[in-house]
Amino acid sequence: MEIIVLPDPDAVARTAADIIEERVRRGPSVLGLATGSTPLGTYRELIERHRHGLSFAEAQAFLLDEYVGLPAAHPESYRSVIRREFAGHVDFAADAVHGLDGEAADPAAEAARYEASIAAAGGVDVQLLGIGTDGHIGFNEPMSSLASRTRIKTLTEQTRRDNARFFASPDEVPEHVLTQGLGTILEARHLLLLGLGEAKAAAVAAAVEGPVAAICPASALQLHPHVTVLVDAAAAAEL
Ligand code: GLP
Repeated sequence: MEIIVLPDPDAVARTAADIIEERVRRGPSVLGLATGSTPLGTYRELIERHRHGLSFAEAQAFLLDEYVGLPAAHPESYRSVIRREFAGHVDFAADAVHGLDGEAADPAAEAARYEASIAAAGGVDVQLLGIGTDGHIGFNEPMSSLASRTRIKTLTEQTRRDNARFFASPDEVPEHVLTQGLGTILEARHLLLLGLGEAKAAAVAAAVEGPVAAICPASALQLHPHVTVLVDAAAAAEL
């Protein structure tokens, strides 16, 4: 695991964008995209580079997770968020950005379909990840199996509170989600975990220096052979 401490969020965004750009320029690629506020700077940087010629026409993308019960068109569905913050501003081919259907009548079948479509694309080359204050990645909350696959999960109250800022009221945060599992995420060839701000310092320290344990889902990254952790000084404070 390579841990890179950078002075500020802009430096994290530029370094993450460098890694993604390098892979995208090498030929057809499969990107794993995360939502949340942490990767937004990286997406802004990639959009800027697209304006200067970086093309995503040969790339595909898979989202990590989705809220259950939100229509795709809801502004806070992760499919809407990714389109608004990134994919809609670059030149992905039509249908190249894949998400989970949070309104699927059969969530288990939807999860199986998603796993199959990641496999059919050849797996994920670079997976971007944020980290929750409780150490979750995707929506794999503490005590998720380290071998878990894409499935439906119930959010913890802490995550619902953390994400309430995106909704008009805390009650509107969905209780259930579909998320790639930790086992699914660990199959990506390169994992890129970003941590910004002091609120993430404890989770980052537990993930990279604590034991590999289900109580901190991001600690599963220690089992992967190619992980880059990019943190700003505040998020590195407890390392
Ligand atoms: C959500 C997302 C995660 C994200 C986390 C942290 O729960 N499902 O993928 O990493 O929030 O969000 P933020 O980056 O806004 O702190």
